[in-house]
Amino acid sequence: MKKSQSLLILIALFVSLFVSCNQQSNSGGDQKMNAFIDDLMGKMTLDEKLGQLNLPASGDIITGAGSNNNIVDKIKEGKVGGLFNIKSAEKIRAVQQIAVEQSRLKIPLLFGMDVIHGYQTVFPIPLGLSCSWDMAAIEKSARIAAQEASADGICWTFSPMVDIARDPRWGRVSEGSGEDAYLGSQIAKAMVKGYQGDDLSQNNTILACVKHFALYGAAEAGRDYNTTDMSRIRMYNEYLPPYLAAVDAGVGTVMASFNEIDGIPATGNKWLLTDLLRNQWKFNGFVVTDYTGIAEMTAHGMGDLKQVSGLALNAGVDMDMVSDGLLTTLEESLKEGKVSQQAIDQACRRILEAKYKLGLFDDPYRYCDVNRAKNEVFTPENRQAAREIAAQSLVLLKNDKQVLPIQNKKTIALVGPLADNAENMPGTWSVAADFSRSVSLLQGLKNAVGSTANILYAKGTNVVSDPDLDARISIFGKPTKWDKRSQKEMIAEAVAAARKADVVVAAVGESAEMTGEAACRTDITLPENQKELLEALLATGKPLVMVLFTGRPLAIVWEKANVPAILNVWFAGSEAGDAIADVLFGKVNPSGKLTMTFPQNVGQVPIFYSHKNTGRPLPEGKWFQKFRSNYLDVSNDPLYPFGYGLSYTSFDYKNLKLSSTELNSTGELKVSVDVTNSGNYDGAEVVQLYTQDLVGSVTRPVKELKGFQKVFLKKGETRSVEFTLAEKDLRFYNSDLKFVSEPGDFKVFVGTSSANTLESGFVLK
Ligand code: BGC
Repeated sequence: MKKSQSLLILIALFVSLFVSCNQQSNSGGDQKMNAFIDDLMGKMTLDEKLGQLNLPASGDIITGAGSNNNIVDKIKEGKVGGLFNIKSAEKIRAVQQIAVEQSRLKIPLLFGMDVIHGYQTVFPIPLGLSCSWDMAAIEKSARIAAQEASADGICWTFSPMVDIARDPRWGRVSEGSGEDAYLGSQIAKAMVKGYQGDDLSQNNTILACVKHFALYGAAEAGRDYNTTDMSRIRMYNEYLPPYLAAVDAGVGTVMASFNEIDGIPATGNKWLLTDLLRNQWKFNGFVVTDYTGIAEMTAHGMGDLKQVSGLALNAGVDMDMVSDGLLTTLEESLKEGKVSQQAIDQACRRILEAKYKLGLFDDPYRYCDVNRAKNEVFTPENRQAAREIAAQSLVLLKNDKQVLPIQNKKTIALVGPLADNAENMPGTWSVAADFSRSVSLLQGLKNAVGSTANILYAKGTNVVSDPDLDARISIFGKPTKWDKRSQKEMIAEAVAAARKADVVVAAVGESAEMTGEAACRTDITLPENQKELLEALLATGKPLVMVLFTGRPLAIVWEKANVPAILNVWFAGSEAGDAIADVLFGKVNPSGKLTMTFPQNVGQVPIFYSHKNTGRPLPEGKWFQKFRSNYLDVSNDPLYPFGYGLSYTSFDYKNLKLSSTELNSTGELKVSVDVTNSGNYDGAEVVQLYTQDLVGSVTRPVKELKGFQKVFLKKGETRSVEFTLAEKDLRFYNSDLKFVSEPGDFKVFVGTSSANTLESGFVLK
């Protein structure tokens, strides 16, 4: 035997010894936990077990029709397992104290919150965050969110939201990572890792909750809570992967969605919550319903509260958010034999396990150190990180004649309904934010220019012109700041400011609450009154930059045709104003790329890059042909495709090379391309790799994202960017729902967006 071989054997022996010791110590940990929980459950009454399954809202924040009656009494009686959306270490400590000092078995409570894109330091809305395509940055945003939330008493977040969304009418597209299963899966993993870290018992890591399981993003007509209905094959290939990625990353909890699947609401769907989630995917944490998810099954037509509570438990639900159904009806259902003691014990055990893993039995106050909250929340370091990540999420949609970056301008007119609105900057689901401490765009511009330029501000118009609609889009304390002046008067003021300026920046778009939960739109254009403002500004002949605030893709056809520069800024979080200014003035070169297709109009919806070819695809270059799959009135093209986003510099792609024209089942294929920064600024580019499986036993998408790399290139620099493809990357679910690859011809595309790529091909043997 050669020396190197014996060394290898030694290393292998050492590794296997290490792994088995570790497994023993883990299972030793499990044994200890199991013994502890056995002992505790041995002392619990049925009522106390059902109490663990109960998750009321704290009353601090209410998102549905629930109430918080008698919560304190219930805690004392052991009838509460956790509370959510209660804010501050002091308050949480006080409530925890009731649980561990005044209830019979002193079981600590879980404290959850919708920490969706940051805690007090708010990062961009998730759709914006995804446009950074930067997994390290996304993980860091979740890490900081966990650090801050855990410092303020929270040990469980209802995030990540990984619902694939392809219909911009749906308000909640803002809460997810867009349309693509592969990218969505990478982001799901990064976020779970960021929240949970490697060790849940640390006091700065928190339980994550992947939601909304499942298919919530496919609501018919883009109307929230609406029915979903899709084939299993589409589910498995296009909608389920991000949930599975979160489970594989060890997510501790899963939230059932509001919608039905195959005619059964997710909350009562045994196929979904048990067969798929537990038996196929081996999920071993606990399942919580969404807000009043159990009670809502009555309106779905599944029976009264008792019936639907039994249905939920039998399907695999462990914890009941707000319905009070598991707490109040299961005793009777147990007597009637409709649910089993074993199912109740199972659910109770899973919740106690989560509490054990968080270390709450060792120290119920481990997340309630008031000094930590003072020192670790909204710190300058966290805000700086949020500013940097926010700048990465902005997407430059258009930049004719290099209007941007703004350089050497003496007078800048800043106009528009979102220019001076700090409260709207954090966007939807920013429940822990102090809105008034966010940085508005006006403030950001002033901070950036100091005394070197003059900023003239005018509101120009309201967000919308209908006061009733205005009231509906500012319900949750994010005011639109309705201005009573006439449209004519406001536009005149803006035009006067524009006339005096060297460049005009128009902050237009949606208000924060025009997206998010129950904020759907059938018209996804810019409100007419805002368009009028833009027209008036264009008529001054001054260079115009449109800064577009939005939580969804908008159909901005006229704007694309007429406004010279468009920067899409989503809702970029508490540091939005500074981050946007960083990009406008060129301190940061934009690098965001769209993760959801922008349609030309709402009639094209759902529109996404990874569609099927159909039997009658439109020939390339055509936009209408009779008896082809197309529209009479508009081309099939998106307004802006998935993966699209400009930079102040330009990137050239050359020399797409494959290491071989064949790939076998055990081998690897290297795909490389030379990317050159051919412009005048240093900058980052997201290099994207797609494949197409040309012949299959089932039809396959025209393109599927299989890899991406964000590379930073100095001006003039060329880098060879290399990807590796293996057989496993080409697998998909076939009509038997088997995850397979099929030999045959593949195309491979590498480029700057899903619609602008170099192309080559290989054969899978
Ligand atoms: C939403 C969830 C959220 C929950 C708790 C529900 O209305 O659908 O996403 O986590 O409320 O606030």
